[in-house]
Amino acid sequence: METPIATEIIPVRDGKSITEQADLARAADCIRRGGLVVFPTETVYGLGGNALDAEAAKHIYAAKGRPSDNPLIIHIADVDWAEEYCHTNELFYRLACAFWPGPLTMIMKKRDCIPASVTGGLETVAVRLPSDPVANALIRLSGVPIAAPSANLSGHPSPTTKEHVIHDLSGRVDMILAGEPSEIGLESTVIKVEDDRVFLLRPGAVTYEDLCALLGEDHVVVDRIVTEKVTGDFVPMSPGMKYRHYAPKAPVLLLHGTEDEILSYIQEKTKEPDAGFLVYDEDAPLLSAVSARTLTMGRGDDPAMQAHRLFLCLRAFDEMPDVGCIYARTPSRAGIGLAVYNRLAKAAGFTVVECGKAPETMPEKRSEGDLAHE
Ligand code: TXA
Ligand code: MG
Repeated sequence: METPIATEIIPVRDGKSITEQADLARAADCIRRGGLVVFPTETVYGLGGNALDAEAAKHIYAAKGRPSDNPLIIHIADVDWAEEYCHTNELFYRLACAFWPGPLTMIMKKRDCIPASVTGGLETVAVRLPSDPVANALIRLSGVPIAAPSANLSGHPSPTTKEHVIHDLSGRVDMILAGEPSEIGLESTVIKVEDDRVFLLRPGAVTYEDLCALLGEDHVVVDRIVTEKVTGDFVPMSPGMKYRHYAPKAPVLLLHGTEDEILSYIQEKTKEPDAGFLVYDEDAPLLSAVSARTLTMGRGDDPAMQAHRLFLCLRAFDEMPDVGCIYARTPSRAGIGLAVYNRLAKAAGFTVVECGKAPETMPEKRSEGDLAHE
């Protein structure tokens, strides 16, 4: 890391009070002058810089420790801004009408004013209009689109609380707007928009079902990177997706099987002194007496709560001493569950244990070459 810079940490709630408005005006000024500002959004916190400034984008990559071939999302304050930065079409506006402001990112052909350093050299740009009032006020006051990846150090789960952000980025950015915990807790849905269909590249709170309800099933294609491990020569449509991601330090294993098979497998594993468990609320009574390394992500039938808590849990495992392996429930893939499943499966490198068919093998410990880069 380069020499640490002084990071100003500014408490914010909803951006409405006179004090907050003055703070947001200073933060906007910082963005316009090429500085870096972390801000809350409804999905996860973002690490923002002026999307029209090629140098600012380079600083974002440096602050995160992220490879510069992984493109950034540009955040706008109003749907009217979009035309200036990308080539829109009818489908784009249908989607914007239905889901903006909100957790949907649309990939479109870019206009020349967006520097190549923002898009990792691609001819397309990812555009999002967040609903969070602080994010919206900051972008509006800046008067420029804000390029922002999730505000975590490369390789860490995306930050959903101000504490995560301060932990990862103090000394690396000019300002942190320290607000409430992120409402959703997982990053936005990313789609590539063509003339008459969309490709779902990253599931999020705007769900596959939501997209199908608007466009019809035939017009929504789920890219295989959402549910499969891709290796070798496969070139993903979204460069960030090729990296191992969201991974805690200990290897994660997804448990498959019937309810009884999974529960008896977990009970057996409580004998391992360094086993961690990521389970549903209703499993906890079974486990808490025997394993202190048990975290719950919500009820099995509450995928919104699982989304809200998943990254908190993954970070919490890293804080526990001596967790050798994390055994995790496999979330349902319905609704926002697909996003929970996708993030957890990526954390696990898509490694699955069939609980009814042990013997299983332990995954290897992570090597440096495996590190995530989101
Ligand atoms: O919720 C979110 O989307 C958060 C908040 C801060 O808005 N941002 C976020 O950004 O998650 P990031 O950079 O961590 O993830 C953006 C993803 C990456 O996987 C990247 O590869 C993909 O979007 N992406 C960005 N531009 C793209 C493009 N032009 N073509 C394909 N994929 C793109
Ligand atoms: Mg990210």
